[in-house]
Amino acid sequence: MSLSASAVAVRPGGTMEEILGLEMVRVTEAAALASARFMGRGDRMGADRAAVEAMRRTMDSVEMQGTIVIGEGERDEAPMLYIGERVGSGGETDFAVDIAVDPLEGTNLVASGQGNAITVLAASERGGLLHAPDTYLEKLCVGPVAAGHVDIRRSASENVVRVAAALGRKPSDITVVILDRPRHAELIEEVRSTNARIKLISDGDLSAAISCAVSGTGVHAVMGTGGAPEGVLMAVAMRCLGGEIQARFRFRNDEERERAERMGHTDEDRVYHTEDLAPGENLVFSATGVTEGDLLDGVRFFGGGARTHSLVMGYQSKQVRFVDTVHMFDRERPPSVRLGR
Ligand code: FBP
Repeated sequence: MSLSASAVAVRPGGTMEEILGLEMVRVTEAAALASARFMGRGDRMGADRAAVEAMRRTMDSVEMQGTIVIGEGERDEAPMLYIGERVGSGGETDFAVDIAVDPLEGTNLVASGQGNAITVLAASERGGLLHAPDTYLEKLCVGPVAAGHVDIRRSASENVVRVAAALGRKPSDITVVILDRPRHAELIEEVRSTNARIKLISDGDLSAAISCAVSGTGVHAVMGTGGAPEGVLMAVAMRCLGGEIQARFRFRNDEERERAERMGHTDEDRVYHTEDLAPGENLVFSATGVTEGDLLDGVRFFGGGARTHSLVMGYQSKQVRFVDTVHMFDRERPPSVRLGR
């Protein structure tokens, strides 16, 4: 989609993406540093709480008028980062932004010391992110080369064949990521019938979706049903990376259906495309690795500091940055900063 210059949110000092992009990475880094301490401690709630508190605290140092639209739940369910919460230190001249967060994707992964846990935040101008209820979405996600070649209404095997053809490969040369859940038994069988390779993951379809849009990760598509909030964050990442997500709501019970209806989502047959989920024109996305992953390194602690690895992207700026940060905790005993890993 081509954008008019007037669509770009600007303030003295730069565009929204330029000003907020590197601020947002401080937020996901803080959440990663806090939750990474819980690696392997068997405490998924503690890891999540640490990420939420650090994210919330750091967000308030960002000069913006932020509103959480995808967060930890409704106001009565979550003490912070709840839907509708105002965040940021902003005055009237600062950007008014909608914010979607997943303070820790992969709480179980951290608790058991497994890879691919990340902290995630996305921002847009007001109205630029779908207000998705905390239900499930059936998702199909592919990278830039296969974007435009798939259709979630067709069978999984047909989509695998289409992804492979777009990439100039045989189905046996592509890898599809699927959440390892009983509800996916049929999907897994169908993908297996194409001879595609499958990576079954215990958690983290958002992290997998970002990987499928970055070449060299060895991940080519993500299929199956997972969290709807993660779907909106995936859409922001796909807008920035040129990939594609298609999705349909899958309600688990009447309560979820009613909640979704109140938010205007009634039709389980409707296919939501990338721009339906993230229609904004000023989009910022930041993710930081917590545990070692396909795309991002996990947090590494050492005497007096730690090192984090993040991905920060802007839609308008068309910039994808990998940010490698050394955090010096101890001024008396500063860590020696090394080149490389
Ligand atoms: P956490 O938020 O507990 O870390 O779980 C993340 C996740 O695995 C997502 O990646 C995925 O979309 C969703 O949970 C799947 O939900 P379920 O565990 O109910 O199948």
